[in-house]
Amino acid sequence: MVEEVDVKKLILQALGARMKAYAPYSKYQVGAALLSAKGRVYPGCNVENASYGGTVCAERVAFFRAIQEGEREFRAIAIVGGRANEKIEDFAYPCGICRQVMSEFCREDFLIIVAKDADDYQVHTLGELLPHGFLL
Ligand code: THU
Repeated sequence: MVEEVDVKKLILQALGARMKAYAPYSKYQVGAALLSAKGRVYPGCNVENASYGGTVCAERVAFFRAIQEGEREFRAIAIVGGRANEKIEDFAYPCGICRQVMSEFCREDFLIIVAKDADDYQVHTLGELLPHGFLL
């Protein structure tokens, strides 16, 4: 339920995480803030690599931090992305690999909030963005 999540606060935390992005190759900076069921927030930023293939998205950095801390249940993630030194003009939707990682730990009602700023955002569910995801 989106009413149970402080959406604006989570977006501000994603914007803060984006400031830490390491994106010298694409110059596209992404920030994510993952809210666990316990109410803790795990920030993540994209971390690029000269090999390109070694790059990890902001969303997965947030998830893997949380998992390493013992978390297993999540309510929502806020995501912001855009080119360095430019105003955020578009919603940054999570890539397919990140959606798949979310499906490993989250139910269909997990909230995915994509934002340009704290007042301009869209709320989706994982079920909407990854229908018929692969599960073993
Ligand atoms: N990126 C993310 O951090 N999350 C996504 O869901 C899509 C893409 C990053 C990876 C790379 O550093 C940059 O955005 C451009 O693809």
